[in-house]
Amino acid sequence: MGAVTTSRKPSEKRALWARQLAENYNIPYVERKNHSLETLLDSYPWVLVADSRRLCCHTPDGVLFFHPNMAAVRLRHLKANQPDKMLKAMGLGPGQKVLDCTAGFCSDSLVAAWAVGEKGTVVALEQSLPVFLVVKDGLEQAGKEGRFAPLAARIELKHADFRQFLVQTAAKSFDVVYFDPMFDVPAHSASMVPLRPLACHIQLTAKDIEAAARVARRRVVVKQRSFYPFSRLGLDDVLDSGSSPITYGMLDLEGGR
Ligand SMILES: C[S@@+](CC[C@H](N)C(=O)[O-])C[C@H]1O[C@@H](n2cnc3c(N)ncnc32)[C@H](O)[C@@H]1O
Repeated sequence: MGAVTTSRKPSEKRALWARQLAENYNIPYVERKNHSLETLLDSYPWVLVADSRRLCCHTPDGVLFFHPNMAAVRLRHLKANQPDKMLKAMGLGPGQKVLDCTAGFCSDSLVAAWAVGEKGTVVALEQSLPVFLVVKDGLEQAGKEGRFAPLAARIELKHADFRQFLVQTAAKSFDVVYFDPMFDVPAHSASMVPLRPLACHIQLTAKDIEAAARVARRRVVVKQRSFYPFSRLGLDDVLDSGSSPITYGMLDLEGGR
């Protein structure tokens, strides 16, 4: 288990916020005093720091903070009427309900939130507590103002393991169920470096796809490296990736299952 602390000279309000966060999620609270993060990381595998602006998480591998990652570029392309591969694989339209089983930074959820519009819903699940808390705080800040505000506010982020969530969820509750698990063979992506030590690394199984197919009305979609053997998961429909190292496997449920 990691710990929660503040910056070296926090305001009273911020220190209280950090203490409450620690209490609500049962994480040890450490008075920062003059401790360096290196010293704290000798005792804890990760340390959440509530500084004056945001919540971030330090690990020996780097600092995880919320940023919309590639969502900004993708949204710019969508606004210029350029297609988005994930949205093509999902076949998403306004008013639909999406379950993003692997929230991470919620970049994909932000793009899905754009596609479903104000009448749609995006529920995102994150199993890792520090990732969940950093991204929840980031979405809350982004939801207040700025260009991502309406999209961030449309995402309901939950701290949950998709395996438990899927079995507890009623059949056909979402139009699309989506997975973007940590890759077995990591792609070169600088933004993923601080996420990796904190993330849940389980590999998807055919049983997970079955569980998702019960909860989805229209489609189950999985993002993976282009060389991934999608048929292992029972996904024979794969988006043509062209020269891209990433592609999407799909299970279309509308033909009746
Ligand atoms: C590759 S990242 C997802 C990135 C995300 N699509 C985005 O746009 O930022 C995978 C995330 O899924 C989370 N995850 C993996 N297995 C999970 C599970 N069983 N339940 C919920 N979250 C899980 C990991 O902790 C990690 O944060």
